[in-house]
Amino acid sequence: MYHSKITGTGHHVPEAVITNDYLSTLMETSDAWITERTGIRERRWIDPAKDTVANMSAKASRMALKKAGLQPGDIDFIVFATITPDYFFPGSGVLLQRELGIENIGALDIRNACSGFIYALSVADQFIKTGMYKNILVVGAEIQSTAIDVSTRGRNTAVIFADGAGAVVLSRSEQPGVLTTHLHSDGRFAEELYVRDPGSSRPREERQPEQILDTTHFKVVMNGNQVFKHAVVRFLEVIGEALDANQLTTSDMSLLIPHQANLRISQYVQEKLGLSDEKVFNNIQRFGNTTAASIPIAMSEAVEQGRIRENDLICLAAFGSGFTWASALIRW
Ligand code: UT7
Repeated sequence: MYHSKITGTGHHVPEAVITNDYLSTLMETSDAWITERTGIRERRWIDPAKDTVANMSAKASRMALKKAGLQPGDIDFIVFATITPDYFFPGSGVLLQRELGIENIGALDIRNACSGFIYALSVADQFIKTGMYKNILVVGAEIQSTAIDVSTRGRNTAVIFADGAGAVVLSRSEQPGVLTTHLHSDGRFAEELYVRDPGSSRPREERQPEQILDTTHFKVVMNGNQVFKHAVVRFLEVIGEALDANQLTTSDMSLLIPHQANLRISQYVQEKLGLSDEKVFNNIQRFGNTTAASIPIAMSEAVEQGRIRENDLICLAAFGSGFTWASALIRW
């Protein structure tokens, strides 16, 4: 068995900064409500004339490759987490492979929403540990802004979800890096946070775009309270599972990077684990909830800010649609 290590991190977010005050001009909401309930002060939305999931992820990937000291041609495989691919099919992995000009490598898409990046990291980790590949690009990227309902009807999701991309290079290494990953799901709650269409289990006439008058089911549906309640329980559970599996405790942890779902969720988890502010990384205040992109964006910023140093013990944890939840413990 080989070891796997994160050798480069990168991120890219669109230029346009969308403030809570701006959202208040589109729907009945307020800066005070959004800040108090979610911690979000602003987020980034794409410019559809120039940003795509593929080109944002290519920018994030180039940054990660540079930090790893690698060229696109050194990459053997792509694992791409997104629930907002540029096309319904094919997935975004092949578009990234094309953008980077890498010939004929495999590209796999992962559709596990907020847990998607950790699922992707786990898949890549197995490929490295078995010796199949040496350098894998693991990416999370989303464009939520063009799908959200910006009327008052959609305000419980419109104020949260946002756009961005993050990437890491996972490489074969001599020393342990990714220690363990832990993946879970409970499909009984699939419809608590989902987008119904374009689903396939529909009569033909309901799947033909020219017949679709009611586009309600193309929008995100979220039972926020229910998601929140499950999230706080599963976050704690899956972080504990990762520590137990490695016979470590919270005091060994250098930094927790939770999926940026809602600052209140992160703060609840922090308090329950008894972690100081320096041991938890949050940037939801500036970027909102970017689903599969949130953890790699946060990791890339944490590296840039010197919050992650060699030999640190980093814990990633996520919860989201499915429900799915996951964690990873990494020796940096
Ligand atoms: O990414 C992973 C998955 N997602 C999450 O983890 C998100 C988890 N859930 C949440 O973050 C929170 O549930 C929300 C931020 C979505 C909502 O916060 P909440 O404190 O749970 O509010 P609520 O849904 O209980 O709604 C309270 C009130 C309602 O009004 P009434 O019925 O009490 O009159 C909502 O209509 O707040 C209203 N409301 C809003 N008001 C102003 C909902 N959204 C907004 C809004 N602005 N944006």
